[in-house]
Amino acid sequence: MAHFSDDLIEEVRSANNIVDVIGSYVSLKKKGNSYFGLCPFHNEKTGSFSVSDRKQMYYCFGCGAGGNVFTFLMEYESFNFTEAMEFLAERAGIKLPEHDMTPSDRLKNDKKERILELNKKAATYYYTLLRSPKGATGLRYFKEKRELDDETMRKFGLGYADVHSNSLYQYLKSQGADDELLKESGLCGIDEKKGGYDRFWNRVMFPIMDIRDHVIGFGGRVMGDGEPKYLNSPETIVFDKSHNLYGLNLAKHSKRPYLLLCEGYMDVISLHKAGFDCAVASLGTAFTDGHANLMKRYVKDVYITYDSDGAGVKAALRAIPILRNAGLNAKVINMKPYKDPDEFIKALSAEDYEERIRDAENGFLFEVRKCYERYDMSDPAKRTEFQNEIANMLTIFTDELERENYLTEVSRKYEIDENILRRKVNEIANKNAGKPVTEPLKDGRMISNKKEDGRLVSQRYLITALVEHPELYPQIKDIIVPTDFTEELYYKVAMMVYDGLEKGDLMPAKIISAFQSEEDHGKVASLFETTIGYLNTEEELKRALIDTLLKVKQNSIENSKSNPGDIDINKAVLKMKEDQEILVKIKNLNIKLNDNGGN
Ligand code: CTP
Ligand code: MN
Repeated sequence: MAHFSDDLIEEVRSANNIVDVIGSYVSLKKKGNSYFGLCPFHNEKTGSFSVSDRKQMYYCFGCGAGGNVFTFLMEYESFNFTEAMEFLAERAGIKLPEHDMTPSDRLKNDKKERILELNKKAATYYYTLLRSPKGATGLRYFKEKRELDDETMRKFGLGYADVHSNSLYQYLKSQGADDELLKESGLCGIDEKKGGYDRFWNRVMFPIMDIRDHVIGFGGRVMGDGEPKYLNSPETIVFDKSHNLYGLNLAKHSKRPYLLLCEGYMDVISLHKAGFDCAVASLGTAFTDGHANLMKRYVKDVYITYDSDGAGVKAALRAIPILRNAGLNAKVINMKPYKDPDEFIKALSAEDYEERIRDAENGFLFEVRKCYERYDMSDPAKRTEFQNEIANMLTIFTDELERENYLTEVSRKYEIDENILRRKVNEIANKNAGKPVTEPLKDGRMISNKKEDGRLVSQRYLITALVEHPELYPQIKDIIVPTDFTEELYYKVAMMVYDGLEKGDLMPAKIISAFQSEEDHGKVASLFETTIGYLNTEEELKRALIDTLLKVKQNSIENSKSNPGDIDINKAVLKMKEDQEILVKIKNLNIKLNDNGGN
């Protein structure tokens, strides 16, 4: 990775207001001193994702994701730090020194990049082979069996792995790749005796791209019958199956305001060829929250176009709630009497498919219909069971209007008395009403009711309080010192906070930059956004602060008591006396606050 100076990093960071940057991805509303929206990193219905203009950081009170503008891009766009720097420098019109970021520099330093580079070479190799005399079988398969044209094959970078079991290995070796990396890329295996061999051979190849067109893995299909029909790359440090969708690199540019969710590679390709350039597929794995969150960046509506057989229906029934929980609107396309979109389009036409999109069934109504099909309606007992199940299902809608709309529709369609159904739904909903995990505070921030180590919460809260009320600093700096923060990370942050307050240039986002991993960014962000309860009046706040100072000091005193055996008794007595004096001093502290606090 390129090395940028701290000053340059800070220049780029401060030239990009985090509210604007995140605001271009997430819809934010001002509440109190912060901006709030739905967290892009976990599924939620109420916005617990906060962005602070003053602190130039974000923090989710629901899932704990947090950091500065760099962290956000690294997590949201899966940029590495260099890419986040480049993106933000360009956005702010800052020129980065050229020598810091040549592609070869990055290659040397970053394993991920090196594996991506290997994958790219492999993709090019397979691609070229398909179009060479050796690739004739593969080409015939794609053109004749799958009716693909050159343009489509090029768009998807389709390729061919020949009948030899180590030709890719030989090729990549000749390009200077090393065995360890080849193994880690999932492209090759290394046998003690026989040497290197390829994972894929005698298959047509589908490179799998992430949203930024990096080749992250491959799928390979046998050209006739044979097992397994598809062989895929294993998960690697660049290939995370539950956070990538096949075809999304192309579909994200589609003009259509929705995505088509398919089961297979060939479905995606056929749909694109027929003009449905918004088709994607999960990668031979079940559909996950990660996939849904990825989709949510681009669309609100998702049309499921899975196989029309039993397995396809089952998979659709699993995907619908996942999509709904992510806040996406799911619909289901009926492809009967054909098996999948690939066969449908070949047998009928793009116009026919367009019509099926128009006629797609609402995801919830699909679930209800499938439920209906499981019961024998001629039996009153079974009919009651069905109706109770429907009442249960309706409770997932917390929005009253939405619930009412579905309720009316379902009662009409399945001839259930609307009023009785409504009573039943309310009854169940009231019974189910539990305590929420997070509750909104007056200023829009969330307070978690999760149980946590109180000593750590106090240390975090004190740091937050110092950031939000810098006027506290001169009042407490001689009483609580950075070493009173007993957690390693807290201590480091406290040092920087004290330093910033001393110099009058405290900026939380800058402190975050001093840490390397995204995980630490989140932890540090939480130190700047800790709440401890409903502190509505200034008196309550002052009392909470005294209480916090006492807890932090007491914990620190506890912590510093070492083995009694090797203590000089006079020193120990002296220390005890000092400690007592400090605690008394804290208790009698007359805290003064400016009324312009807040985050
Ligand atoms: N799949 C897989 N491994 C298998 C079978 C299937 O990873 N052994 C994944 C592939 O991504 C495939 C998808 O599941 O594209 C759907 O499988 P299936 O319905 O069997 O294949 P089709 O897409 O219909 O494939 P084709 O049209 O090429 O027969
Ligand atoms: Mn198929």
